[in-house]
Amino acid sequence: MEIRDLYRDVILDHNRNPRNFGVLAPPARRATGHNPLCGDRLEVYVTVADDRVTDLRFEGKGCAISVASASLMTEAVRGKSTAEVEALYTRVHALLTEQEAPTDPSLGKLAALSGVREFPARVKCASLCWHTLNAALASDATKPITTE
Ligand code: FES
Repeated sequence: MEIRDLYRDVILDHNRNPRNFGVLAPPARRATGHNPLCGDRLEVYVTVADDRVTDLRFEGKGCAISVASASLMTEAVRGKSTAEVEALYTRVHALLTEQEAPTDPSLGKLAALSGVREFPARVKCASLCWHTLNAALASDATKPITTE
């Protein structure tokens, strides 16, 4: 199987069966993300204890890329420290935006998002969940944030 097909299958699987889809009750932190290009919205809920992500969920409606990206993110981030989450996002952002960057093998399934860099308009779809998670981690954000 070609790597592209494998990546496509991962995206399709996480879009059809999103992991960690749902809500967490307060005191979980929460933020709303909004992609102004299409109007799609995502809610991210996260609980942090001893500076580590102990649980996170998301819900919302969006394209296959945004849902799959959020699902993959929840699997990748659970159990990580906030500093590790930040470092991971830096690597994911490079994966999504740097045409020439080789795919970082330590990204695991997140590498399935690498095809997005061929479609600049979809970068916002894939990064929406990360911006929203960052907002949730940064505060008890109640204001919608955007991917801009
Ligand atoms: Fe709306 Fe992708 S088209 S998030």
